[in-house]
Amino acid sequence: MSQTDLLNIVHRPRRLRRTPAIRNLVKENTLSKSDLVFPLFVCPGSNVVEEVPSMPNSFRYSIDNAVKECKELWDLGIQAIDLFGIPEEKTEDGREAYNDDGIIQRAIRAIKEAVPDLYIMTDVALDPFTPFGHDGLVKDGIILNDETVEVLCKMSISHAKAGADMVSPSDMMDGRIGAIREALDDSGHSDVGILSYSAKYSSSFYGPFRDALHSAPQFGDKSTYQMDPANSDEGMKEIELDIMEGADIVMIKPGLAYLDIVYRTKERFDVPVAVYHVSGEYSMVMAGAEKGWIDGDRVMMESLVAMKRAGADIIFTYYAKEAAKRLS
Ligand code: PBG
Repeated sequence: MSQTDLLNIVHRPRRLRRTPAIRNLVKENTLSKSDLVFPLFVCPGSNVVEEVPSMPNSFRYSIDNAVKECKELWDLGIQAIDLFGIPEEKTEDGREAYNDDGIIQRAIRAIKEAVPDLYIMTDVALDPFTPFGHDGLVKDGIILNDETVEVLCKMSISHAKAGADMVSPSDMMDGRIGAIREALDDSGHSDVGILSYSAKYSSSFYGPFRDALHSAPQFGDKSTYQMDPANSDEGMKEIELDIMEGADIVMIKPGLAYLDIVYRTKERFDVPVAVYHVSGEYSMVMAGAEKGWIDGDRVMMESLVAMKRAGADIIFTYYAKEAAKRLS
């Protein structure tokens, strides 16, 4: 083929993809360790490290081992965790949730003592704390709203007293952000922030998490409080309400299947946006990799940068440690 047979193209986008150096120069989004939050499962007992059956390479830790894990996270450059707990006892009133000597409260104190600069967020919802596995109090098969919010306020104050930096309500009750903000302020914790699970969908991607925390709903599903996966405007409304009520950070959950919601949120609101790369997303990749059908590590890294591209500032992921190692 002679020179004259070549196409006469002015714009050749491939010029900017020719070598690693030029690709790096024109890279638009970068994942960094400081974007990541590691969700940490704490369980009763001592010297426990238990792999979650449906989440390969993800573990439940007793407090002593959770502390070791936190040191490791910190050394890897991960600066924030979100704590989830399995209580000693589940009761219909969920009272272990606001026991100042409960599993989360003790974990916060132990971790703060060992790794003082690690930023501690705590999950605020009742699902692991009652036998029903619902995020709120239950009466006659109904998930109560206002009565639940009262308990979530007590839970938040208890976490703040133990030293939590930020509470993260994941329950989706109406009005809880405003009520928690007021409860924290009135109890002298105006420095404690709120990351709200604002647009949280009623999703089947949460299965492995419920396995990890023994918190699967014992009747029905969560669709009277979590959002319909078919909706988008409704997510904007939830986010607007939470910002008005005092949320410092808003979250969209799950991640990959809801990046349009992340994008819309980032375009529309001027607050930090978090996204949760949830258990089911994690486990699907791990399972595919175990079968040898996909390159798990590359799929994970691609998923995380896709979340950044959509507009996420913060990513909650069980893959945080591995990602941090790959980013080093
Ligand atoms: C419950 C809660 C859930 C997750 C975080 N907080 C599960 C649920 O709503 O049933 C899911 C996280 C994940 O799947 O990784 N308050």
